[in-house]
Amino acid sequence: MDREYFDYAATTPVNPVVLKEMLPYFSEDFGNPSSVHVWGQRAEAALEAARLECSGLLNVKPDHVVFTSGGTESDNLAIRGTVLWRRKHKGADEIITTPVEHHAVSLTAKQLVNEFGFKLITLPVDSYGMVDPEEIRKRISSRTALVTVIYGNNEIGTINPVDEIGVVCREAGVPFHSDAVQAAAHLPMDLIRDNLDLISIGAHKMYGPKGIGLLGMSGNPQLLPIQTGGGQENHFRAGTQNVPLIVGLAKAFSMAQSDLQERNALISCLRDELIARILDLIPGVLLTGHPTRRLPNHASFVFEGIDGNRLLTMLDVRGFACSSGSACKVGSPTPSDVLLALGIKPEMALGSLRITLGSSNTLEQVVSLAEAVSESVEKLRQ
Ligand SMILES: Cc1ncc(COP(=O)(O)O)c(C=O)c1O
Repeated sequence: MDREYFDYAATTPVNPVVLKEMLPYFSEDFGNPSSVHVWGQRAEAALEAARLECSGLLNVKPDHVVFTSGGTESDNLAIRGTVLWRRKHKGADEIITTPVEHHAVSLTAKQLVNEFGFKLITLPVDSYGMVDPEEIRKRISSRTALVTVIYGNNEIGTINPVDEIGVVCREAGVPFHSDAVQAAAHLPMDLIRDNLDLISIGAHKMYGPKGIGLLGMSGNPQLLPIQTGGGQENHFRAGTQNVPLIVGLAKAFSMAQSDLQERNALISCLRDELIARILDLIPGVLLTGHPTRRLPNHASFVFEGIDGNRLLTMLDVRGFACSSGSACKVGSPTPSDVLLALGIKPEMALGSLRITLGSSNTLEQVVSLAEAVSESVEKLRQ
């Protein structure tokens, strides 16, 4: 049986070109970039070339790229590091966020509230999961330590008006962070254009390796390091850098950011065909997230009267790998907080399906997936 992968928002395979770039740094060029000798110099050269590449793609200074172990760590460093700094130096103790964040953001904020005494302001979102910048304007003040809003949503695909939110934060003099772990694989990134202070990115959503990411920073970064030790990463993140993975991240990021328009045009065509077929074939279905302002590879639905996990299992048996939303939530019997925040009823939210397309998918596969979803939903409803 052919197996077809439709879960590119969970992770992607490493592109062979990316892998080839990484390989020498596991073996012959294995040096520690902090070492003085030639091995160290070679590793340092690769590290700094990767930093330069990533900083160019983000429009920030090379010193303002901090390599981390992935999107989760970047979110933790941005949020915890900034709010602890801002409380100490400015007396700011409020965090403004949204109800549609990835757990790497929402649970970090929750811990800061429960264990460190910060106050949380959760913004309303519309039925597409989008934030209105005016809602931030109403709540932002000198007490705000940080505003953090997801760029492109992992569960529902909606793209937030990050640049407009950034204007509001700039006017109030409050740092603005965005989790762009999904968005950076599909959209041009530019911290200056978007008025962003901090951005989190991970390599494995863009055909790079797992376990590596970065925090991009603009302006005058003001945050405490969360991981302390050596002076690596300009004292923002201690620990010997994982040079092969960093080289892979830079290559994957630069490939993801090239020819964006053409690739997005192709993939969104397939995605739109899939959405149209599913909405047409199946009664009692709702497209979740914004109909047009969404990640180009992202289709997500809720179906009336079914259990999303059972649907996933049925699709898997038929050779289609999809997801119920966030990869971290598979197996959880409770409805997703993100879907509930859109005003979707809990019973309906349990019937969620996320299909995210990527380099291996074809029109033929999309057609057979839509049919498989339709037949499986019908069977489950019986
Ligand atoms: C929006 C978003 N943020 C953060 C993460 C966490 O990334 P990682 O698990 O690679 O650290 C993910 C992963 O799915 C994500 O989709």
